[in-house]
Amino acid sequence: MADYRQHMPSYVITGASRGIGLEFVRQLSKDALNQIFALVRNTHTASQLLALSTQHPNIRVLQADIVDHAALKAAAAEVASATGGTLDYLINNAAYMDPERNMLTLDGYPQGQEALLEEDIHKFIQVNVIGVIHTINAFLPLVRAGGTKKVIAISSGVGDLAFTVEAGYVISAPYSISKAALNLAIAKYAAQYKAEGILFASISPGLVDTAQKPPDEQWWTASPEELEAFGQMIERFKNAAPGWDGRPIQPEQSVRMVLAVIDQLTIEDTGAFVSHHGNKVWL
Ligand SMILES: NC(=O)c1ccc[n+]([C@@H]2O[C@H](COP(=O)([O-])OP(=O)(O)OC[C@H]3O[C@@H](n4cnc5c(N)ncnc54)[C@H](OP(=O)(O)O)[C@@H]3O)[C@@H](O)[C@H]2O)c1
Repeated sequence: MADYRQHMPSYVITGASRGIGLEFVRQLSKDALNQIFALVRNTHTASQLLALSTQHPNIRVLQADIVDHAALKAAAAEVASATGGTLDYLINNAAYMDPERNMLTLDGYPQGQEALLEEDIHKFIQVNVIGVIHTINAFLPLVRAGGTKKVIAISSGVGDLAFTVEAGYVISAPYSISKAALNLAIAKYAAQYKAEGILFASISPGLVDTAQKPPDEQWWTASPEELEAFGQMIERFKNAAPGWDGRPIQPEQSVRMVLAVIDQLTIEDTGAFVSHHGNKVWL
């Protein structure tokens, strides 16, 4: 007898408590056929996600810090038991992006504070690179057994070498370095798993207003000096992207565009690093 059950595409989204991750869950959960596994590092404080999950039974909230590989394996086991051992899409969205000392250049740390520079680089690499690698390793057996086989890393245009030089983007170095390293990790997986038909790609979401503040307030908590430097950054980005209006986009638009890119990517694109436009236009 024919099986009339429809396939329920399954998604794991990390960093689903707020910002772009929460928006992925919001948009994907609208389709009742999608099965969403929303990973957060603290289920008790993820109040917006918990509220959303009470309205959408296709959202399951799981706890795992992405630097904790044992917690990730436990989350993967929970997903496997719900899906029968498979996963269609893994979206690595979680990232450390603390703007503290963001305005310093690599050689701008005060004399005697080299340890702080090292600490910053380690912290960004630990979460944004090693954390994503642990996540991929934990979920890869499920993706290999899945139907769609797409693994995405949410990266950033500031991890693009050409854009960095063109825009004169000298600040935010530890974060930018972590995203460039992430892109290479994704290329390594792509090289290894192309023959198996698993797509790996890094996608930048654009410059997105994810501050949890009323829309009319400044979109980033910052000192006057930081705000001035931020204004300079916007001017530099505009020089590198003349068509851009200088304003961040909203999570709704960013996620809609990124989901369209994910949909269009095929195994022939594996290892790609593209923007929310699906190309190298980062803004
Ligand atoms: N916003 C932008 O303009 C922009 C531009 C380029 C790229 N991106 C990238 O887009 C992604 C999402 O950015 P966003 O603006 O939505 O960031 P966000 O609002 O700061 O949210 C970051 C998310 O990552 C989670 N997270 C941080 N460290 C984690 C860890 N160790 N384990 C598990 N989860 C962790 C946070 O959880 P908690 O709630 O527990 O802290 C939060 O859910 C990031 O990869 C970011 O690099 C953003």
